[in-house]
Amino acid sequence: MPVQIIFPLDFSDLKEALKYVHLLKDRIAIFKVGLELFVSNGPDAVREVLAAGGKRIFLDLKFHDIPETVRRALRSSLIEKVEFITVHTGDGTALLSAAVKSVSPGTKVLGVTVLTNLSEEELKKTLLLREGITMKELVLHRARMAKDAGCAGVVCSGHELSLIREQFGKGLMTVVPGVRPLWSLVEGDDQRRVVTPRDAALRGADYIVVGRPVRDAKDPVGAVEKILEEINMMNS
Ligand code: C5P
Repeated sequence: MPVQIIFPLDFSDLKEALKYVHLLKDRIAIFKVGLELFVSNGPDAVREVLAAGGKRIFLDLKFHDIPETVRRALRSSLIEKVEFITVHTGDGTALLSAAVKSVSPGTKVLGVTVLTNLSEEELKKTLLLREGITMKELVLHRARMAKDAGCAGVVCSGHELSLIREQFGKGLMTVVPGVRPLWSLVEGDDQRRVVTPRDAALRGADYIVVGRPVRDAKDPVGAVEKILEEINMMNS
């Protein structure tokens, strides 16, 4: 299966988000509802994206709380409508296991390893990452926790993708944000550990998250088509 594109509906205005669903639904596998859209519109965001023809939903709220709180939140019937949810891996396996046990079989839990806007330098400062421990080791450790807790996959940068593939084979799904086609320029870009769609595909990503290069393109449909071409070239 070639790598599939996830488009994050990073808008606060639901109408604007739905415009993109209509525009891209024939070419995009999954629409991601994240904090911006969810905080402004609540569960309606998910319902409306489905009603507009977005078939598969990724609810990216990156849960990070005590297991009991997350378990109770995941009991909502809304969760049954979504294919993926995200949980931070930074606090160990208890939270991850609680999430995995709380969702229905149709919903997959993804563990967020280390956000792609963070560099190794920043991690050293904020997490007091010990000298000698690398970003790769930290990501691998967190991916192992996600796997052991029964998560279907992880969110990781393209930089750690090959390593995760080597360690876990196809046993752990990979979702890669921080994807930048060579032709895209994102003003004030905060993503640090970036890769191109082609590199993500070559390294074995299952899904790539591509937001601003599509959202802010003059021709978003054309931008998606260019990315698909780049990915599909590898399979021909
Ligand atoms: O392509 P772009 O940088 O615009 O994509 C931003 C999206 O990727 C946001 O929705 C953000 O939540 C998501 N994301 C991320 N880094 C992660 C996980 C998700 O940037 N590690």
